[in-house]
Amino acid sequence: PQVNFTHNNSRVSAVLPSGESVEVLLFGATVISWKDCAGNEKLWLSDVAKLDGSKAVRGGIPLVFPVFGTAPDHAATSKLPSHGFARNTKWEFLGRSSSESSPSTGASDASIKLDFGLSSATLDDKSKELWPYTFSAIYSVTLTPDSLGTGIVVTNDGDKPFECQVLMHTYLRVKDIAKVEVTGLEDSEYIDKVDGAKTKKQSGAITITGETDRVYQPAKGPSEPVVVIESGETVFSVVRDNLKDVVVWNPWTEKAAGMGDFEPKTGWKNMICVEAGSVRGWTALEPNDTYQGAQTISV
Ligand code: BG6
Repeated sequence: PQVNFTHNNSRVSAVLPSGESVEVLLFGATVISWKDCAGNEKLWLSDVAKLDGSKAVRGGIPLVFPVFGTAPDHAATSKLPSHGFARNTKWEFLGRSSSESSPSTGASDASIKLDFGLSSATLDDKSKELWPYTFSAIYSVTLTPDSLGTGIVVTNDGDKPFECQVLMHTYLRVKDIAKVEVTGLEDSEYIDKVDGAKTKKQSGAITITGETDRVYQPAKGPSEPVVVIESGETVFSVVRDNLKDVVVWNPWTEKAAGMGDFEPKTGWKNMICVEAGSVRGWTALEPNDTYQGAQTISV
């Protein structure tokens, strides 16, 4: 059996022989669906998320580049919209590569990688004006029977250096946020964006009991997975490669109520954003330099 693959002018989707599937919108190269073999959705996507390119997608995995939030004090990116232009720009589908199930064992372990591209050559004039650097980015989405991987490679193709930030803004779907615990960030220092950007230290596992918006600097190093546990069971395990920071976000009641594209309004109970990125400080790229960062989310 082969990987079933479809692609049109706005979406790319793939279904593995073992039944898992992924769907990626060219707008933002946003992953909007990831299902297991039983058809259970693993990502949270707002019922009224704009999928027509009029606004960044509320849910799935929006890709944040080249700035996290806004950076009024960082002259080179201060004019960009919040979270940058990558999630608001149509990417090009570059192609796919798949590995078939191993014939010797008969195991259904086929996987597929989908590649998307964005560069200053194809970026719209407005974004180019706001961020006048020559760059190219390749974003890869890899689906295996038990994981979803996303990775970015950014290259400075110009003759002046630039600084950037990258974040994979993953909305993980959970059944009940009250029963969720996030481990792997114990003893990590974090910036608490809902408490005046104070620096604090995480003690024990993270639980969500109100609006949560934190930028963690993981204490345990990059190979320690960040694990989402629900009712005592591991539901997601996020492993990072060269993405040194982790944002944990849940809007809770009021913030969800205030977002026009967030439905149902109780959706905050069914999501937790665990966002792997490099957002504390800047990644500097000299001409011809390349930055590479990736995450693998296992179920
Ligand atoms: C998180 C930020 O990454 O994204 C939050 O830490 C922000 O501060 C959230 O509210 C959602 O951002 P947006 O632009 O998609 O509403």
